[in-house]
Amino acid sequence: MNLLMTCVALLLSLQTSSSTPCKFPAIINFGDSNSDTGGLSATFGPAPPPNGETFFHMPAGRYSDGRLIIDFMAKSFGLAYLSAYLDSLGTNFSHGANFATAGSTIMQQTVPLNKGGYSPFSLQVQLSQFSQFKSRSQMISKKGKVFKSLKLKKSYFKKALYSFDIGQNDLTELFFSNQSADEYIPKTMKVFSDVVKEIYQQGGQYFWIHNTGPLGCLPYALIRRPSSSLELDSVGCAVIFNKLAQKFNNMLNETVTQLRKDLPTVTFIYVDVYSAKYKLFSNSRKYGFETPLRTCCGFGGGDYNFDFNVKCGDKGIVEGEEVLLGKSCSHPEKSIIWDGVHYTEAANKWVYNEIATGKYSHPSLPLCQACR
Ligand SMILES: *[C@@H]1O[C@H](CO)[C@@H](O)[C@H](O)[C@H]1NC(C)=O
Ligand SMILES: *[C@@H]1O[C@H](CO)[C@@H](O)[C@H](O)[C@H]1NC(C)=O
Ligand SMILES: *[C@@H]1O[C@H](CO)[C@@H](O)[C@H](O)[C@H]1NC(C)=O
Repeated sequence: MNLLMTCVALLLSLQTSSSTPCKFPAIINFGDSNSDTGGLSATFGPAPPPNGETFFHMPAGRYSDGRLIIDFMAKSFGLAYLSAYLDSLGTNFSHGANFATAGSTIMQQTVPLNKGGYSPFSLQVQLSQFSQFKSRSQMISKKGKVFKSLKLKKSYFKKALYSFDIGQNDLTELFFSNQSADEYIPKTMKVFSDVVKEIYQQGGQYFWIHNTGPLGCLPYALIRRPSSSLELDSVGCAVIFNKLAQKFNNMLNETVTQLRKDLPTVTFIYVDVYSAKYKLFSNSRKYGFETPLRTCCGFGGGDYNFDFNVKCGDKGIVEGEEVLLGKSCSHPEKSIIWDGVHYTEAANKWVYNEIATGKYSHPSLPLCQACR
């Protein structure tokens, strides 16, 4: 179950008639921590150890013990892992760029990160970074040599896969600031749709859009749920948050349907990541995971092993000595939840393997056919 299927093997197993895989030369990604490969770390300080311990054996700008779904996507096309646009050190953008940062929202927020708020790099800011990336890449490439080899070729902007995974932070914001979902979510959809149309104007042809996962299964939402909304489902996930996520997802699906009508020459694939993740939570034992809702790298024990004041990688003074309090569990490969908010490499790989098949997609194309 830990094997990463190649496209050819996948197409054979699905017995599809169209057998040639798409050769995306680049991925350009927008999103939040679910796909941040170093943006927030480059800006506000690195994700501390033990983040990265399983795969990179050191922190690698990701909020996980290892790789994210976007890493497995890049690997499946034979591409190197995506550099964060915001990272000015050792980056190589010849095969794409990642504009996602942890804490990003679709709607620009006013509460800053250091006050418990959000990343300043909202989706519209990510779009403006993308526009600069596109225009300045060409100027810099003209310098030749190493500059050219580190930048995306002009023709790749049309051939690239444009992927999105954003919305989770908008849902937490709207819920905890008591805003009306019926007012807030349509505003996010307008922004999302405008951003996609602008990327299309700049050449984008292939869009791979993740919906948002089951927020109500994540410890950071579970422990904060108000007493008026304690209801849990049979898996132990908070019903109120999952309903909110589903409401967002239904509107996102409608928005993508409308985009297909507005831009008929463009490929839009809507990926129901929610259902893949929820399937993992509800059948965790079957897939080799234990205590599905318990945080691996956390503090405090209990059902969720999560404490808002002592997060993964946080240190504290115990008997006069500084010690790591937010420690990793001994078997991250058997945990779904990494730090109370994000998923482990093992869970990300499992979800990737599910969604890459196309069975959670509309239209039902596998990832490696996303150029059809
Ligand atoms: C950047 O990455 C590309 C593709 O992975 C590679 O061919 C190129 O040599 C890299 N450039 C440098 C300077 O490492
Ligand atoms: C939202 O409502 C709850 C319950 O009425 C209240 O405790 C909380 O302070 C409110 N939050 C905000 C940001 O207004
Ligand atoms: C998304 O919308 C399409 C119609 O455009 C529908 O066929 C599909 O079932 C929807 N997917 C989900 C997961 O709701």
